[in-house]
Amino acid sequence: MPEWIRVADLAATPPGSVQVVRAGRYDVALFNVAGNFYALENACPHQGGPIAEGWVEDLTVTCPWHAWCFDLRTGDMTLGQFAWIARFEVRVEDGGVFVATEPVERA
Ligand code: FES
Repeated sequence: MPEWIRVADLAATPPGSVQVVRAGRYDVALFNVAGNFYALENACPHQGGPIAEGWVEDLTVTCPWHAWCFDLRTGDMTLGQFAWIARFEVRVEDGGVFVATEPVERA
């Protein structure tokens, strides 16, 4: 069972916002896309680029360093299955945004 940590107030994370939060041992990029939250480790698997500073379009984030693209829902690279970013579960409760302190295990 993952532990959860409150990382932000819901009111401070409006749609379109991105912020870097700390969840356990990880720096996590927390995206609010149209009211839905997605959380990926803030380190691109290519060379560690800050994914929170990437370009978000629909449900894809593009790394700001060399433009690798990832699906916000899964962390999977969109152009091939040879790379991915660790993904974290997010839940909203009592006016707060909570992130799991360990990434989702991949099948
Ligand atoms: S560091 Fe992200 S694409 Fe190179």
